[in-house]
Amino acid sequence: MKTKITELFGIQHPIIQGGMHFVGFAELAAAVSNAGGLGLITGLTQRTPELLANEIRRCREMTDKPFGVNLTFLPIVNSPDYPGYIRAIIDGGVKAVETAGNNPQKWMPMLHEAGIKVIHKCTSVRHALKAEAIGCDAVSVDGFECGGHPGEDDVPNFILLPRAAESLKIPFVASGGMADGRSLVAALALGADGMNMGTRFIATKEAPVHEKVKQAIVAASELDTRLVMRPLRNTERVLHNAAVDRLLAKEAALGANLKFDDIIEEVAGVYPRIMQQGDMEAGAWSCGMVAGLIHDIPSVKELVERIMLEAESIIRQRLIGMIGA
Ligand SMILES: Cc1cc2nc3c(=O)[nH]c(=O)nc-3n(C[C@H](O)[C@H](O)[C@H](O)COP(=O)(O)O)c2cc1C
Repeated sequence: MKTKITELFGIQHPIIQGGMHFVGFAELAAAVSNAGGLGLITGLTQRTPELLANEIRRCREMTDKPFGVNLTFLPIVNSPDYPGYIRAIIDGGVKAVETAGNNPQKWMPMLHEAGIKVIHKCTSVRHALKAEAIGCDAVSVDGFECGGHPGEDDVPNFILLPRAAESLKIPFVASGGMADGRSLVAALALGADGMNMGTRFIATKEAPVHEKVKQAIVAASELDTRLVMRPLRNTERVLHNAAVDRLLAKEAALGANLKFDDIIEEVAGVYPRIMQQGDMEAGAWSCGMVAGLIHDIPSVKELVERIMLEAESIIRQRLIGMIGA
């Protein structure tokens, strides 16, 4: 399939694996790129720019296809060494960066000078337009369904994607709730040039996370996610568990007085315990409503091939059949 996104990133299929904290290691990024999509290493999971440089080297040993790095700009006081991470990305010869969190304007000249294509992930049309205005090459439009941070506007993809299509000149991918060939065809119909998946890629053989995480996604239905940290205007969609219940009880009890420190136990530093040790009650971890559509743990190659075959068959048979061409 050929779209503006496959052309932009030099990939075979219009499928991107979104950055995921303690999931997006070289193993997963390489598997997605080898399957013809765009795999992304999650920059900040590597504690230092040196470790990121090493992860980029490891990924290059596992694939000769294009892959990228996700760089999330966090709303925290002690900012990570972003200049160092950008240097590691440029020196590592990476040609695609997914930015998220905050506006990446400051880094655009450096990234573009190095020939890097920037796709900014955002949750509203106004942020997508801002990304276009500052020179981003594409955007990833993350609907309310998404795992992770859906923003505060709560607009689902059935509205958000056509709104993005009405407003943007640069290409965009649909993100949030994407799982299969049906998602891809729907995304294309709504104006996107591809799709970005997070949760679906965790439940794959190559995802370097504990088996219990994959099983939890397969077991979950579309009713099993919760929104946390809304009172802090840092809303995150997570899988329901006992830690999330504790967190929500604190939010309800403290109301507008809630501070980050009150919930630190449930959210800070929990990812390694969950993703690597399989301690499923250690805290809140991002998961999309799309868990309800995930019923198996295929290899990344099987998943991507299945998506492309299903998409083609929907277009060629079901859709063309309906208009009788
Ligand atoms: C476990 C997990 C961790 C994530 N971590 C990040 C992250 O560090 N940075 C980021 O930009 N997005 C992060 N995301 C969001 C994904 O990149 C992607 O936008 C989202 O999962 C899409 O929604 P979906 O899960 O419905 O496919 C994370 C998502 C999950 C499920």
